Amino acid sequence: MSLVKILCCLLITYHLCEGRKIKGNRAVCLCSVTSESDFLKVQEPYVSSTVFRLFVEGEDTCTLDSPQLHALTACGFNSSNPLIIITHGWSVDGMMESWVLRLASTVKKNLVDINVIIVDWLSLAHQHYPIAVQSTRTVGKDIAHLLQSLKELQYPVRKAHLIGYSLGAHISGFAGSFLEGSEKIGRITGLDPAGPLFEGMSPTDRLSPDDAEFVDAIHTFTHERMGLSVGIKQAVAHYDFYPNGGDFQPGCDLQNIYEHIAQYGLLGFEQTVKCAHERSVHLFIDSLLNKDKQSTAYRCSDNSAFDKGVCLDCRKNRCNILGYNINKVRTGTSKKLYLKTRPRMPYKLYHYQFRIQFVNQTERIEPSLTISLTGTKEESGDLHITLPEKISINKTYTFLITLDKDLGELMMLKFQWEGSVLWKNVWNRVQTIIPWGGRMRKPQLTVGRISVKAGETQERTSFCAMENDVQHVEVSEEKVFVRCTDSAPKQRRRKHN
Ligand SMILES: *[C@@H]1O[C@H](CO)[C@@H](O)[C@H](O)[C@H]1NC(C)=O
Ligand SMILES: *[C@@H]1O[C@H](CO)[C@@H](O)[C@H](O)[C@H]1NC(C)=O
Ligand SMILES: *[C@@H]1O[C@H](CO)[C@@H](O)[C@H](O)[C@H]1NC(C)=O
Repeated sequence: MSLVKILCCLLITYHLCEGRKIKGNRAVCLCSVTSESDFLKVQEPYVSSTVFRLFVEGEDTCTLDSPQLHALTACGFNSSNPLIIITHGWSVDGMMESWVLRLASTVKKNLVDINVIIVDWLSLAHQHYPIAVQSTRTVGKDIAHLLQSLKELQYPVRKAHLIGYSLGAHISGFAGSFLEGSEKIGRITGLDPAGPLFEGMSPTDRLSPDDAEFVDAIHTFTHERMGLSVGIKQAVAHYDFYPNGGDFQPGCDLQNIYEHIAQYGLLGFEQTVKCAHERSVHLFIDSLLNKDKQSTAYRCSDNSAFDKGVCLDCRKNRCNILGYNINKVRTGTSKKLYLKTRPRMPYKLYHYQFRIQFVNQTERIEPSLTISLTGTKEESGDLHITLPEKISINKTYTFLITLDKDLGELMMLKFQWEGSVLWKNVWNRVQTIIPWGGRMRKPQLTVGRISVKAGETQERTSFCAMENDVQHVEVSEEKVFVRCTDSAPKQRRRKHN
């Protein structure tokens, strides 16, 4: 097919677009030019609006001028090895963001025998957001075309793992749905898939579990403003991870957003927004870099249930590893998984669920507790806990504690009831005003049972008071609890370290 013919074709479609008064711009026309019927039947050269670069090392990439074997081999593509395709998102300044090369080089360095292709669709991404969104199908189609060509070279598409950030996540999804034949892409990872114009859309109009054999997503910035969130809130994968609840990330400081804007103008906003949005990328990089610090996430109905610590269960694939080393167990429905992270790399935190039962509590008291744990490896230091509600009779409280170190097997627990300031004052006044007040019963807590479950080891430890039956704790008194002698740790499963 001659160049003239292509130009004619473009010209015709241009007029068609004009004639049909499709609102807007060329990007829309491009979408309609490459309609599905035209696609992949073409013996003629496929016109790709996307540039593909094979990552070599350091900052070096090799641009593929065609998806043909000679171009691929010239760039060092090794067909015995798996392929990772990285796709960026919407671009404000038209520049490739620095995380792209960082992710590419981390992948290459840690997985060694691997091909890494960077998708450059900056010319289409550097547009107003809605226009960039309209181009996502076009870019998805370009990637599908690349994979189709690889398939013709006997390279199976299930060896491909697409990693897309923000709009790039949906692009990867479209690549999967445009692919012909029954064979699917091996894996798609959506890094904080974009929310606006995708939230609530049908699975065909966004990243969804049927776009690849296995789909995972990490949601890091779903904080809602005026009905919109930067990252998509709904589950779009087989496993959807919501670190720190998914709406915002520690160390990204939303409180200061207005100060940032005052100081840097919109750039301040951009920095703050990017922090939480881009955290998804750095969590993924972390999973490749820190092999001994893999983060576990747990299935839960929502974040508030997770904060109560009731979700640290790994039976029946209820938990999974965040990032590259996920267990690729496919399930019918999307699973929402939660975890807490540190504000910096390595992000891993250890999750502990506490259950404390208070017995025969007659006065309703405002509980403020200090607990410290000693394990075979480390000590936790003082953990201050304020229970959300007043303690009332025979109630069991559960809450989540996270630590940045592995304590080993839990041996001892120190428990101190701070009481409320009010209580202490009342008690002191009672004693000064009424001298015989001392014979009145001092306010005390009776602790029925304390048990701690470590999410990472799935081990539950019960604690008993040191001096046998005395489980009463008075205000400000420190009480030591040790492993109950009858407590053979249940559910000893060390699989999820
Ligand atoms: C391709 O990678 C394999 C390892 O997976 C290696 O043994 C082989 O030598 C590589 N081929 C080329 C041409 O580099
Ligand atoms: C709680 O109160 C009941 C009855 O009032 C008593 O039998 C029981 O021993 C008390 N339990 C504790 C742990 O103090
Ligand atoms: C609270 O629990 C204790 C010990 O388990 C029991 O003796 C007591 O009757 C319970 N009190 C109420 C009001 O349920």
